[in-house]
Amino acid sequence: MTKNQKTEELKKILIIGSGGRENSIAWALSKNESIEQIYVCPGNGGTANFKKCICLRPKDENAQTIIEESQLLGINLIIIGPEVPLAEGLADKMREAGLTVFGPGKDGAQLEASKDWSKALMLENNIPTAKYWSTNSKEEALEILRRFNQPLVVKADGLAAGKGVTVCDTIEESEEAIKDIFSGKFGSAGNKVILEEKIEGPEVSIFALCDGERLIVLPPAQDHKRLLNGDNGPNTGGMGAYAPALLINEQDLQYLTELVLFPTLKGLRKKNINYIGVIYAGLMLTSSGPKVIEFNCRFGDPECQALMPLMGKEFASVLFACARGEIKNAPKLTYNAECSACIVAASRGYPESPQKGDKIDINVESNSSLQIFHAGTTVDKFDNIITSGGRVLSVVAQGESFDKAFDLAYSNLKKINFNGMHFREDIGYQVRNI
Ligand code: AMP
Ligand code: GLY
Repeated sequence: MTKNQKTEELKKILIIGSGGRENSIAWALSKNESIEQIYVCPGNGGTANFKKCICLRPKDENAQTIIEESQLLGINLIIIGPEVPLAEGLADKMREAGLTVFGPGKDGAQLEASKDWSKALMLENNIPTAKYWSTNSKEEALEILRRFNQPLVVKADGLAAGKGVTVCDTIEESEEAIKDIFSGKFGSAGNKVILEEKIEGPEVSIFALCDGERLIVLPPAQDHKRLLNGDNGPNTGGMGAYAPALLINEQDLQYLTELVLFPTLKGLRKKNINYIGVIYAGLMLTSSGPKVIEFNCRFGDPECQALMPLMGKEFASVLFACARGEIKNAPKLTYNAECSACIVAASRGYPESPQKGDKIDINVESNSSLQIFHAGTTVDKFDNIITSGGRVLSVVAQGESFDKAFDLAYSNLKKINFNGMHFREDIGYQVRNI
């Protein structure tokens, strides 16, 4: 650690991304009184709603342009929200330029950007996961399916915006999914294909903030990936979430940390990867024990929106410490002990072809237990808030029980309106009396 590092104060933060995740991180950081300014690049129609938060819109989105802008502004900490810039090596370029970044480099981002790579890491480190095969040949994939003689889950190796996984109920469906992927359905992400044994059980996500050597485990959360009530319809980026997930208690979380998170960080270190950022493990709790379904190299969206209101005011300092490789000097991260509920409002046509350009009426004031986090929104020249994406915004609320938190969130969501708005009515059904 240099002398400079020791004394540098956290005043200016840049968050890269435009979604609800980044909006909620900006809100959580804005609560820290010593922070002067939070830039979000490019941000969205809700960025400037929070004190000290503004959109940063450089002349282009090249890494070099953003780096120069960050240096000019005197940014102390950059947080990279989405997986694509991480997988492209934005964090590496920024670190090479001397900036302090929370987010893994291109090497560590393979945890999410290549399912083959992350499966191999799991095997090498005895991290429980579903049995799998990987291949870049359609014939071989069909042969594996024939031999296994049971439906297999078919996954594109690379990033496919959350759409690269087909969970199949029959061998015929698996066959079709294999043919689709090799005919280019997911572009180059499907050049390599993972075939996976289908496993069953409730899903839960766990998260660790890492500084390369150590980690801090956050409360677990549960996502709702399917579009429609009752977990029906197509997979989406996530239609709602809640935290802390009651499926696992503190003891289970400790066990999962030993079983999954520590071995992952250790496995990354064995490969000489200095992993700074979030390790997100999507787990399935099967009858033969927990298994990892996927790793992500960033906060989940919308899990992040549910989690951020639970973070204590030390959150900014903790991220800064992680980014500098010195968790041991960070203040203890405290948590709000309440239940947090997040419901996503999506636009007509989401996830296939979301309609954009509709005016949004938001007749809700945020307060200490209710937040409106924008995602696919923009501001037009008359200062109207307009839809600009599939997942438009989320309403997040906290309460002493999940019933109270969800009641508050749903009653306020109903005051928001835009043409084609839809949302799931049953988010949190696992923990609510409905
Ligand atoms: P992913 O995009 O990897 O998060 O996968 C999307 C969803 O597919 C997961 O949340 C699971 O519900 C399901 N899934 C993925 N892998 C499997 C598997 N091996 N068996 C059963 N379901 C799976
Ligand atoms: N909500 C799932 C994800 O962020 O990948």
